[in-house]
Amino acid sequence: MNFEISLHIPVLTKEVLEYLDPKQNENFIDATVGEGGHSMLILEKNKPNGRVLGIDWDAGQIENSKLHLADFKERIVLVNDSYFNLQNIIAKENFAPVHGILLDLGMSSWQLEKSLKGFSFTKSEPLDMRYDILNSTTAQKIINEESQFELEKILKEYGEEKFAHNIAKKIVEKRRFKKIESTLELVSIIEEAIPPKFRHGHPHFATRSFQAIRIAVNRELDNLTGFLPQAIETLSSKGRLVIISFHSLEDKIVKNFFKEMEKLGLVKILTKKPVVACASEILANPRSRSAKLRAIIKLENRS
Ligand SMILES: C[S@@+](CC[C@H](N)C(=O)[O-])C[C@H]1O[C@@H](n2cnc3c(N)ncnc32)[C@H](O)[C@@H]1O
Repeated sequence: MNFEISLHIPVLTKEVLEYLDPKQNENFIDATVGEGGHSMLILEKNKPNGRVLGIDWDAGQIENSKLHLADFKERIVLVNDSYFNLQNIIAKENFAPVHGILLDLGMSSWQLEKSLKGFSFTKSEPLDMRYDILNSTTAQKIINEESQFELEKILKEYGEEKFAHNIAKKIVEKRRFKKIESTLELVSIIEEAIPPKFRHGHPHFATRSFQAIRIAVNRELDNLTGFLPQAIETLSSKGRLVIISFHSLEDKIVKNFFKEMEKLGLVKILTKKPVVACASEILANPRSRSAKLRAIIKLENRS
């Protein structure tokens, strides 16, 4: 693996700073620290004594952010864990008070290009897709062991793949003869399963299936759902929570949760509509095309 220069361009940086609003000496949690892009911007703003707790489930990303944030090592604490365990992590690190939390969902360019974990459908790698290598579920296990019914459900629910039935059927047919082990084997099975006229164009025909399998391997929606109430609980009053999501399933969970919390009088929503990247950012960083940012501020305790 290669941990040198950062491949990942953080998205919506101006907007993250606007909604998180870091001030001198405040403390922040970057719950998906990745390669440290957003954390670096926060650390520039909360000096001289503000700290950042950076969490990432991928040990490789902790190494990357350690390298990229070396200049800030006195003020950054890095933890290799899932944000699903937010409150345990905070208790262990004795990290308080918390003035803001950032969650930038999904995977980073380094994971796609360099981690060798099979996140990309453009090169031959083992079907892994785990952020955390201690996770006992791999993409290979799902593809080779789940029933056709379950595979179809994963592709439909997490990928909104309209050919879910055909793809699941083809996977089951193929694995009877040979275990499916590599990303490119899976790509060619998907290609065979869909009608020829859908095999070209943008987005690539394997995009939705790869997204679905990655979400299933890492239980991404469960992690998000489990994280949200812990984040609200953790924030100090007037603390801010900023979440960037990359597909409608995540965005819906965030939107509904924020609305529910506002109804209960616990938070105020700062983004009536999701904030999206402008044309020039999309041009410079195509990954930002599907980014949606939502933010809330925690209201003062009324008791
Ligand atoms: C889009 S990247 C974050 C990039 C980061 N904002 C930056 O500027 O470099 C998302 C990161 O979330 C991490 N991640 C995914 N699920 C996680 C989880 N449950 N807990 C902690 N980190 C997770 C991934 O490993 C990945 O590094």
